[in-house]
Amino acid sequence: MRNRVEVMHGVNFDVLDRRDPEHYGRLTLTELEVRVKRFARELELEAFFSQTNHEGEFCENLHRASGSADGLVLNPGAWTHYSWAIRDALEVSHLPAVEVHLSAVDEREEWRRVSVIRDLCVGCVQGKGVDGYRDALQMLKEALQV
Ligand code: DQA
Repeated sequence: MRNRVEVMHGVNFDVLDRRDPEHYGRLTLTELEVRVKRFARELELEAFFSQTNHEGEFCENLHRASGSADGLVLNPGAWTHYSWAIRDALEVSHLPAVEVHLSAVDEREEWRRVSVIRDLCVGCVQGKGVDGYRDALQMLKEALQV
């Protein structure tokens, strides 16, 4: 069964509960992961998680993901907007991926409206807070046909 999903968070997600609650809510990353794990279970997906503040490590996590995951939910944070290295590493993974953002990036500053990974992803969910991860998992489930 192709149901293993890696949920990958990038830079500054370790301090999620210290960021602007207007955009990001008040959950800690661990609390967010517990919620996402539950969404996944309801969809009969198996979610596991990673987070790093180091761009190269995020790339390495993408390199190894093809061996351990069937699909990806990606929230690379600010890297979304400019990291061509992460874009290239995502291509290497050859995995279906959904881009997620807690906030409505397309309605914020100009620089946040750019995503260098979006065209490689099967979908993008933004501005729905933690519930957006459920939508992302649903999209991924459809892409994986499980
Ligand atoms: C974010 C949006 C990014 O612009 C920002 O840099 C983040 C979080 C989001 O989830 O809304 O770190 O990816």
